[in-house]
Amino acid sequence: MNERLTHLLRQAVSSLSEAGTKDEIHAIRVLYLGRKGLFASFLKDLSSLPADGKKAAGAAINSVKDRIEREIEGRLKSIEDALKSGRLAMERIDVTLPGRTQPLGRLHPVTQVMREVSAIFTGLGFETAEGPEVELDYYNFEALNISKDHPARDMQDTFYVSEEVILRTHTSPVQIRVMEKTPPPIRIIAPGTVYRRDSDITHTPMFHQVEGFMVDEKVSFADLKGVLTIFLKALFGGSIGVRFRPSFFPFTEPSAEVDIACVICAGLGCRVCKGSGWIEILGCGMIHPEVFKAVKYDPEKYSGFAFGLGIERVAMLKFGIDDIRLFFENDLRFLRQF
Ligand code: PHE
Repeated sequence: MNERLTHLLRQAVSSLSEAGTKDEIHAIRVLYLGRKGLFASFLKDLSSLPADGKKAAGAAINSVKDRIEREIEGRLKSIEDALKSGRLAMERIDVTLPGRTQPLGRLHPVTQVMREVSAIFTGLGFETAEGPEVELDYYNFEALNISKDHPARDMQDTFYVSEEVILRTHTSPVQIRVMEKTPPPIRIIAPGTVYRRDSDITHTPMFHQVEGFMVDEKVSFADLKGVLTIFLKALFGGSIGVRFRPSFFPFTEPSAEVDIACVICAGLGCRVCKGSGWIEILGCGMIHPEVFKAVKYDPEKYSGFAFGLGIERVAMLKFGIDDIRLFFENDLRFLRQF
């Protein structure tokens, strides 16, 4: 009997050492210690022993049983420990690793220039206004002294939505919308998107303008020259050459175009300025009395100036870009440079 017990113990210990999972160990427990297990059959054999041998045999069986019990507990604990340290190793956080950086977006060059222009005029006391891009013919043309048969309509190849509804060809309609609602004095800039049927290296069908206008009693052409000169020097640097040339717009009288000395050749003459040394940068003028009449301002009492500036053109000059279409191709290799 003792021999059989020793054998059983050895067997149990060796199969426990091979068991790798809790399930396997539970199976071993059932096999040895279960109600119909190997020890149960030993206990049955006890009954056939003489009374004096029963006690010793029972003690031997129990001690082996206890031993196997302890072996099982020990194995379970070491498997549990191994699992736990495996989990800990896997979940370890290396606090010395550098953090994950979120790639930062950046502002489109057109947006950058728009904001810079807005900031300069905000500093001069101008407020910002906006108007719709899908605009009525009335605001885009009629109220700006451009009647249906006016030849100036040909200057601005218009996208028509219907007879009376168009995509605005300039930001000047915002002048009308603001003045209709607000009595003078006003100082406004109106940045926005405009549309013309035009496409080549200096024109895209969609582009951006900033409109500006100021109305009060006794606003003069000297105010216009002063404000625009200050603005252009703030934008292109204090030493930039600025000149005003007579021009024509139906909604201003007198009208002018403003040139800056070519930023590429500093006025010597090059391909960009077509040899002239000057680059046209904006249109402007004193607001026409007919425009004041359309918004019910008294042209005898009030005067004002207005100007319109192409943003892409400014961005091209500031950043030295020679094809306007690059702005709208969304090529990251291009955009990342700004
Ligand atoms: N709206 C004109 C254009 O798009 C520019 C302009 C604005 C001229 C205001 C004079 C006054 O060409």
